[in-house]
Amino acid sequence: MTTRVLVAYGSKRGSTAEIAEWIADALRQEGIDADVADAGRVKDVTGYDAVILGGALYAGRWHRAARRFARRNAGELIHLPVWAFSSGPLDHTAEEGVIEPPPSLTRIMSRIGAQSHATFGGRLDPEVHGMIASAVAKKQGGDYRDREQVRAWAREIARELAAIGV
Ligand SMILES: Cc1cc2nc3c(=O)[nH]c(=O)nc-3n(C[C@H](O)[C@H](O)[C@H](O)COP(=O)(O)O)c2cc1C
Repeated sequence: MTTRVLVAYGSKRGSTAEIAEWIADALRQEGIDADVADAGRVKDVTGYDAVILGGALYAGRWHRAARRFARRNAGELIHLPVWAFSSGPLDHTAEEGVIEPPPSLTRIMSRIGAQSHATFGGRLDPEVHGMIASAVAKKQGGDYRDREQVRAWAREIARELAAIGV
């Protein structure tokens, strides 16, 4: 039977949603049946063999949809293989080394039994609207996501799933 993986994301401006799509594409290339969904729209995780949950970072916290998804589904997630990712840094630090999740996310990860976590670079449109966002964008606007880094992480998950016989 084909392994079914849900890639759920919390994203405000779409760039984390796109990372979720890249992850799912890479998993499909490894023969895995991967669905991508906005974490705020997923009713439950029934039928999935594993879950990858990601969120954009805003003010040091995971996007609300990802946090709520984790809370809502904690009872099921604890029994499944789960991986977490964040997207945020508006510079090249995420490509240069491992960035640990913020403490609030570490707590969520232990509640859902997440195996590990990756931080990927973020994207912010230099022309973004909103007072705070445009102030951030003025200094750090741009696309810092590394598609190959994301795909390599997904391939590693595919290998781990195979290793644990999922
Ligand atoms: C107001 C604001 C606060 C942010 N706070 C953080 C942060 O605390 N840590 C971080 O790594 N990135 C932070 N970012 C960058 C975003 O996480 C980045 O733009 C991300 O790619 C957004 O994802 P989205 O397009 O899926 O919403 C912030 C961006 C804005 C506009």
